[in-house]
Amino acid sequence: MADGIRGQPIPPIDQPARLAALVAALRARTDLVPAVGIVLGSGLGSLADGLQDAVAISFGDLPGWPPATAPGHAGRLLLGRLDGVPVVLLQGRLHLYEGNAPGLVVQPVLLMGALGATVVVLTNAAGGLNPVYRAGTLMVIADHINLTGQNPLIGQNAGAMGERFTDLSEAWSPRLRAALHEAGRAEGVELTEGVYVGLTGPTYETPAEVRMLRRLGGDAVGMSTVLEAIAARWAGIEIAGVSLVTNPGAGYGALITHEEVLVAGAEAGPRLARVLRRFLRDVARPVREA
Ligand code: HPA
Repeated sequence: MADGIRGQPIPPIDQPARLAALVAALRARTDLVPAVGIVLGSGLGSLADGLQDAVAISFGDLPGWPPATAPGHAGRLLLGRLDGVPVVLLQGRLHLYEGNAPGLVVQPVLLMGALGATVVVLTNAAGGLNPVYRAGTLMVIADHINLTGQNPLIGQNAGAMGERFTDLSEAWSPRLRAALHEAGRAEGVELTEGVYVGLTGPTYETPAEVRMLRRLGGDAVGMSTVLEAIAARWAGIEIAGVSLVTNPGAGYGALITHEEVLVAGAEAGPRLARVLRRFLRDVARPVREA
């Protein structure tokens, strides 16, 4: 049963061998070396439509990965070129709430790095904690609060990959945040900036939890991203992130439905896709000319 794969703990020391097997599986299909990786959250899957020379692999066809189960998540890894820039895209992701171990949740991002990506962009759908946020607000992630109670670096470390006591004081790259804002200005797309709070889900929050998370300093809340960010920084990958706010947090207004989350994602997704394509061209230029 796939849940055996999902729940099996993966300490950091096991990551190098697992990543080597994943890289080998992908290298059997393509030799493209990505400059940038992008994790596409709910509503953003369409960014993959513009991909040229694309090779797509379903999660379940990769060694050690279970199929994606979340609705709105295709569960595929794609390699190809976007506007000439070699990229690796994750269409859908592995979530804690699907029963996936923290060490498995972070493997897609570590794999992007192992394939050659030096920059990874994490996107997600989120609820608004900041009362001025509306459905459709796009928030560049300035920082995060990990309230999952999990950490992908627990267990024996793999010193060749990263430091156990990884510094997170500039986890979300100031350089990449500036590049996102620049891309937003160039595309005429409004972007705000704030703190993302990561919980396990799969329930949405209670109104009391939303009030608490706001007082703790959060601007948006979701069920992903924070473990991936930690693992990426451990592995020396530079990260940026954007939350697509799909609904005001619980208690601010109407009840939250998964349906409205998908609808808001579909509405705002194309706006964010434009920003990301511009960002990609700007950020990858120096990489390609280096
Ligand atoms: N809470 C947590 N995750 C979410 C939400 C929310 O309100 N909306 C979309 N993802």
